[in-house]
Amino acid sequence: MGHSILLVGSGGREHALAWKLAASPLCDRLVVAPGNPGIEALSRGDVAGARKISCVSVGAEAIEALVALAARERLDFVVCGPEIALVAGLQDAFAAAGVRFFGPSRAAAEIEGSKAFAKDLMKRAGVPTAAFGSFDDVAAADAFIAQQPGDVVVKADGLCAGKGVVVTSSHDEARAAVRHMLADRAFGLSGARVVIEERLIGREVSMMALCDGTRFAMLASAEDHKSVLDGDRGPNTGGMGAYSPSPLVDDALTAHIGRTIFAPTIAAMAAAGRTFRGLLYGGLILTPDRGPMVIEWNCRFGDPETQAVLVRMQDDLLPWLVGAADGQLPPGGPVWRSGLSLCVALAAEGYPGQVRAGDRIEGLADDGQVAATDAMVFHAGTRRAGDGFVTAGGRVLGVTGTGVSLVEARQNVYDTIGRIRWPGMHFRKDIGLRGQS
Ligand code: AMP
Ligand code: GLY
Repeated sequence: MGHSILLVGSGGREHALAWKLAASPLCDRLVVAPGNPGIEALSRGDVAGARKISCVSVGAEAIEALVALAARERLDFVVCGPEIALVAGLQDAFAAAGVRFFGPSRAAAEIEGSKAFAKDLMKRAGVPTAAFGSFDDVAAADAFIAQQPGDVVVKADGLCAGKGVVVTSSHDEARAAVRHMLADRAFGLSGARVVIEERLIGREVSMMALCDGTRFAMLASAEDHKSVLDGDRGPNTGGMGAYSPSPLVDDALTAHIGRTIFAPTIAAMAAAGRTFRGLLYGGLILTPDRGPMVIEWNCRFGDPETQAVLVRMQDDLLPWLVGAADGQLPPGGPVWRSGLSLCVALAAEGYPGQVRAGDRIEGLADDGQVAATDAMVFHAGTRRAGDGFVTAGGRVLGVTGTGVSLVEARQNVYDTIGRIRWPGMHFRKDIGLRGQS
C-alpha cells in the first residue's frame, strides 16, 4: 500500500514538491494544505499523478487543524515546506499523534529559528563560519563593532522572513542597523538579540541535504539570485531565480562540504539532543582563502532552489523523504539527470516594494501551465479569477526547465516565459549566465 501524504505550504517550493511527490508510484493521495491555485490546477492537468492531488484550505500555522485534517483524511506521512511551522513545533504535534513526518522537531528547527544558536553550535563543532558575537545590548554591540578590522553583517536572531540581515559597508551603518533592531525593535522580538559577524567575500551557493539524524544525502547544488535586477544589481528579494548545479561545486568540493560542514553540524545537533531529521540547507560562501563557509542554516527546502533542483532529480523523491523521517536514509545519493536546470521568477509590478495585485495573467492554460512546453510553471502568488489566474503576490510564477546545455535550458525557460504576460510583469534575463563567468 502506498502513502497518503499531507504536504504543508503554499508557495512555488510546495508546487514543485507536489508535482514531484504526486508522480511517485508510492504515493496514493496527496493533500496539500493550503496549497495554491497552481497546485489545485495541476490536479486537472495531465502530469503524472495529477488526479491524486487535492488542496484543503487549512493554513500552515494551524497546527491543531492540520493534525485533525490528517486524522480525518487518514494521511500517514507529512511533508512540511515552511520554516515557521517547523519552528512552531509542527513535527512535535504530529509525532505526538503518531504520524510520520518529514521535517525537524521544534528543538532541531532552532538551527534556523535562532541564528545565535546556530553560530554557537558551529563554533563548538568547528564548522567554518564567519567570526561573530551575539548581543542584546546596544553598548556591547557597539564595542564589538569597533574591534572588528573589516565590515560586518548585522542579523536579527529570530525568523524575519528573509528580511533581518543587513550587509554593511561601514561601522556607522552597522551601528545604525543594531539600533534599528535592538532599540527600535524593527523586527519585534525576532530582533531582541542580534548576531554581528564578519562580512565574507565570495560566491554564494546553496547546498541542501536530506538528513536522517545521523546520515545525510546531498542534493544537487544550486545558486539563488537575490537581487531584483540583472547583474546582481538593485534591492534584495526573496529570490529572482536559481539554477542547478552550480558550476563552482564539483564532486570533490561537494565531498569536502559534506565532510567539513554537514557531517559535524549533524553530529553536533544529535549530541545536543536535537537530532536533525529533514532537509538541512546550508547557505555557503566560497571564500578564496578559507574555503566554503556557512552564512546561514535553514531547516527546510529552499525557495526557489527546490524548483530548480527537483526538475533535475531522476529518482523518486518519496523514498528519500520517508527514509529520512524514519532515521533510515537509503544508501548513496539521489540520481540526477545530466545537464542543468533553471527557475526564473516572474514578479509583479512594484516587487520587491509595494506590489500591485489583481493583474490578469495571459498565457496560462486551465492546468496553470503553458501549453506545449516541457518547462514547468510553479505558482507562488496567483489567485483564481473566473476561468483564469490573476496576480496575488510579489513573486507570481517560477518558470522552471531543464536542458542538456545551458543554452538549451535557458531557451526552454525563456521561450516559455515569452508566452506569459501581465501588466507590470518583470523578471531577470540573466539567470544561469553567472555560471559563465
Ligand atoms: P540570509 O537572510 O541569512 O539569507 O542573508 C541574506 C544575505 O546576506 C545572504 O544571502 C548573503 O548575501 C548575505 N550575508 C549573510 N551573511 C553574510 C556574511 N557573513 N558575509 C557576507 N554576506 C553575508
Ligand atoms: N532561497 C533562499 C531561501 O530559501 O532561504
